[in-house]
Amino acid sequence: MKDIIYVLDFGSQYSHLITRRIRELGIFAELVPVNYPINKLTQAKGIILSGGPRDISKKDTLLVGRGLFSLGVPILGICYGMQLMAHMFGGKVALGKKREYGPVEIKILKRGHLLAGLKTKQQTWMSHRDQVVKLPRGFSVLASSKNCRYSAIANEKIGIYGLQFHPEVVHTVNGMKILKNFVNLTQAKCSWSMRDFVDNAIKDIKQKVGQEKVVCALSGGVDSSVAATIVNKAIGRQLTCIYVDTGLMRQGETEQVKKTFLSYQRANLKVINAKKQFLEELKNVTDPEKKRKIIGNLFIRIFEKEAKKIGGVKWLVQGTLYTDAITSGVSVGKTAAVIKSHHNVGGLPKKFGFKLIEPFRGLYKDEVRKVGRLLGLPKEVTERQPFPGPGLAVRIIGEVTEERLDIVRQADWIAREEIEKASWANKAQQYFTVLPSIRSVGVQGDSRTYGYPIIVRAVTTRDFMTADWARLPHNLLATISARITNEVKEVNRVIYDITSKPPGTVEWE
Ligand code: XMP
Repeated sequence: MKDIIYVLDFGSQYSHLITRRIRELGIFAELVPVNYPINKLTQAKGIILSGGPRDISKKDTLLVGRGLFSLGVPILGICYGMQLMAHMFGGKVALGKKREYGPVEIKILKRGHLLAGLKTKQQTWMSHRDQVVKLPRGFSVLASSKNCRYSAIANEKIGIYGLQFHPEVVHTVNGMKILKNFVNLTQAKCSWSMRDFVDNAIKDIKQKVGQEKVVCALSGGVDSSVAATIVNKAIGRQLTCIYVDTGLMRQGETEQVKKTFLSYQRANLKVINAKKQFLEELKNVTDPEKKRKIIGNLFIRIFEKEAKKIGGVKWLVQGTLYTDAITSGVSVGKTAAVIKSHHNVGGLPKKFGFKLIEPFRGLYKDEVRKVGRLLGLPKEVTERQPFPGPGLAVRIIGEVTEERLDIVRQADWIAREEIEKASWANKAQQYFTVLPSIRSVGVQGDSRTYGYPIIVRAVTTRDFMTADWARLPHNLLATISARITNEVKEVNRVIYDITSKPPGTVEWE
């Protein structure tokens, strides 16, 4: 039996990230709902209570059973998790005078075990309105910030620790060190590796599927390509990959995906041209969520039709990730807010004709890249930057038309070409262009134009849960701007997006 740390999910956007960070430290961690039976939690070496969107000060609380605190294992509360513990132990939580969102410096007053090895001043990442205003008896303060007296607290005697900031996000400097300190307190032994994951996933898929037939929604992206490969390894020719050319793809993409996929894989591949259908169904649709739902629905209908042609297909493989699930509001306890419905999760119709195989529902992007490398996939697949399932449709604000698709596609090609030429491909993890629905006045060739602006977006990120805008050099931006306005005739203005996530998201829709 593996040593395990459970993360109780109170619905934070970062709940999965905590689990994944613990796994990065080599310890098996699982995210479970807040009402997970206490008798199952007895197997844990340690427990972490995640953050969440509720307000303890408004009595809008999600509590846990008191039995949790009698298990005798170290417990760490993060953000809401810390406030909840403080509240349950007799402390007081109230609305802070000032909110803390984003980078906040804390001063360490007492290191204890949790903050061992850290310098006195630390940069952290906060996201809260409520805060602990009175400590429960037996607890001491480990760190404070300017606007929050209790940024880190502990009752070392009973092994209970709390952090108001998020050690799991990369913007908290030394966040991993703090989590490692907590893991050391639990004395859990390292037993989690991606190699284990791959072996177990193959076994699991074989067992689940038996002799039945499977189709895979191949987009050519990292997730679906690696998912197809792992399923292919498990069941070989029982699998048929279906690539749908929605007409929402980037320049040359369909040909490229086909060529690359067949170069490393002996698999059944069907390429379906459905450009017309997608454009038809997206006519006059401007709402981003509607677009996603329409695209998701049509995808599934096409699969069902193609699967029928193959005959006897029972399963559909999807490369859904943790991040897809969490931004679609599918936290394990159904407590997270819906930010957007990534089409391969939230956009699925309620009733459809397949059972799902989603081998990576528990993994993050960089873990899937690692799985791809372990399976021997080429770099052009494992290191490929993400491209959303609904494709260019979510990079066109407003209605998707053939003309507008052409504009954003040409601009995207130019921006990508220049960014790659300038050796920024490895420094920015995603870069693309967006076409907004406004137009503006310009002057080209001594004439007035009334054209579209193009927004260039490039972000640096590790896990796409948080991101910063890439500091592309001015010269590079100037080249991109000049080329787009010269080569894409409908465009007379280029804008560079300097928004991080949060408050923005990576995509515009
Ligand atoms: P956001 O915009 O949510 O994007 O910050 C995070 C990452 O997810 C990608 N993305 C999607 N991927 N279907 C997908 O498969 C979608 O509907 C979708 N929307 C966003 C986005 O490109 C970024 O890498």
